Amino acid sequence: MIKPLKYVSKIKPYVPGKPVKELERELGIRDSIKLASNENPLGPSPKALEALKELLSADGGLNRYPDDTGYYLKNALTERLSRGGNGSRAKISPDEIILGNGSNSLIDVAVRTFMGPGDEAIMGTPSFVFYPIAVGSVGGVSIEVPLVDYRHDLTAMADAVTEKTKIVFIANPNNPTGTINKRGEFERFMEKIPEGILVVMDEAYYEYVHDSEYPDTLKYLFEGRDILILRTFSKVYGLAGLRIGYGIAPKAIITEMDKIRGPFNTNSAAQAAALQALSDEAHLKKTVEINEQGKEFLYKELGAMGISYVPTEANFIYMPLKAESRDIYNALLKTGVIIRPVGPNAIRVTVGLPEENRRFIEALKKIKEL
Ligand SMILES: Cc1ncc(COP(=O)(O)O)c(C=O)c1O
Repeated sequence: MIKPLKYVSKIKPYVPGKPVKELERELGIRDSIKLASNENPLGPSPKALEALKELLSADGGLNRYPDDTGYYLKNALTERLSRGGNGSRAKISPDEIILGNGSNSLIDVAVRTFMGPGDEAIMGTPSFVFYPIAVGSVGGVSIEVPLVDYRHDLTAMADAVTEKTKIVFIANPNNPTGTINKRGEFERFMEKIPEGILVVMDEAYYEYVHDSEYPDTLKYLFEGRDILILRTFSKVYGLAGLRIGYGIAPKAIITEMDKIRGPFNTNSAAQAAALQALSDEAHLKKTVEINEQGKEFLYKELGAMGISYVPTEANFIYMPLKAESRDIYNALLKTGVIIRPVGPNAIRVTVGLPEENRRFIEALKKIKEL
C-alpha cells in the first residue's frame, strides 16, 4: 500500500469526540449535555439563521460557487475592526484579511505558506492541539515550551528562537487553560522577536476577554510587523458547524497565504451567516453575559467543593485534578455530561447555560475522588 510521507506518519492525530446521539445510544442515556468543545450554548444569532433560510430556496444561489473574495464579509469585518483600532492608523483594509474554513484551516495555510521540512515553530504546552499537527504536516519541528502558572512563558518562548524558527504560535486566551498573556509582557516579547518570524496570535476567544490589559494586537499590524491575528465565528458567534474564521495580517502576508488557501475555501452559507452574526451585537452581548454568569456560578460552586480551577478569560474552565482525567471523564459521561479530559490529570469544561452548569456541578459532586 502507498506509504505516507515519513513526517506525516509521525503525526499524533486529533481525537474527535463521538457524535452525541451515538454516545447516548451506547450508554443508554438521554438528554446529555455537551460541554466539551467551547461552543456557544445559546446557539447562532437569529439573524444568521434568517440569512441561512434565504439560501435554502430554489433561487437561493446554492447551485453557484461562493464569492471567492468574501467581498461583503471582508468589508463588514474591515468596518468592525477599524472601529476598535488605536494609534495613528486605525483602518484595516480588505486586503489585510483572509477568510478560512474555520480558523483551524488558516493555521494550516500559514504553516504551508511559511514553513518547510526542518523549519521550527514555537508553541506553548499544553496549548491548542492543532498547531503541532499542522507543523508536522509539512515536516516542520514543533518546539514546545511548557506553560508557567498555566500561562504562556513568553520569555522562554522568545529564548527558544533559533535560525530555523519560522512561526511562533500564541493562543491568547490559551486553550485549554483559559489564561491570557498581558500587554506589557507581549510588548517585551515582540521586541525580542526578529523580523522574518511570523507571530500567530490565535484570538479564537477574543470577544470573551474582560481583562483591561489584554494586548491590542492590531497595533503590531499597523507597525508592519510579521503578525497574523486569527479570530473565528465558531465561538461567541455560535457558528462552529458552518466553519468560518478569519485572519488579519499585513497585505504582503495575506497575498502569499491567499495563493495557498485554495479557491472557494469558505462556503456561501458560512459567509452569509457570518455577515449577519457580526451585525447582531445583542446576541454577542447576551452570549458574553451568560458566560460571565456561568463562570461566577462555577467558580462559587467549585470553590465551595474545594476543587481547584484556573480563572478563565474564555468560555471554558480548566481544572487540574488529583484523579485521573479519564476516570472523571467516564464518570461524568455516565450521567450524560460530556467534558474534555486534558492530559493525565486535568479536565476542561465549557461554560454552558445555567441548567447545564448546574448539572455539571451535581454530577461532579457525586464523584468521590477528584
Ligand atoms: C485556540 C483555538 N484556536 C483555534 C480554534 C479553531 O477554531 P475554528 O477552526 O472553529 O475557527 C480553536 C477551537 O477550539 C481554539 O480553541
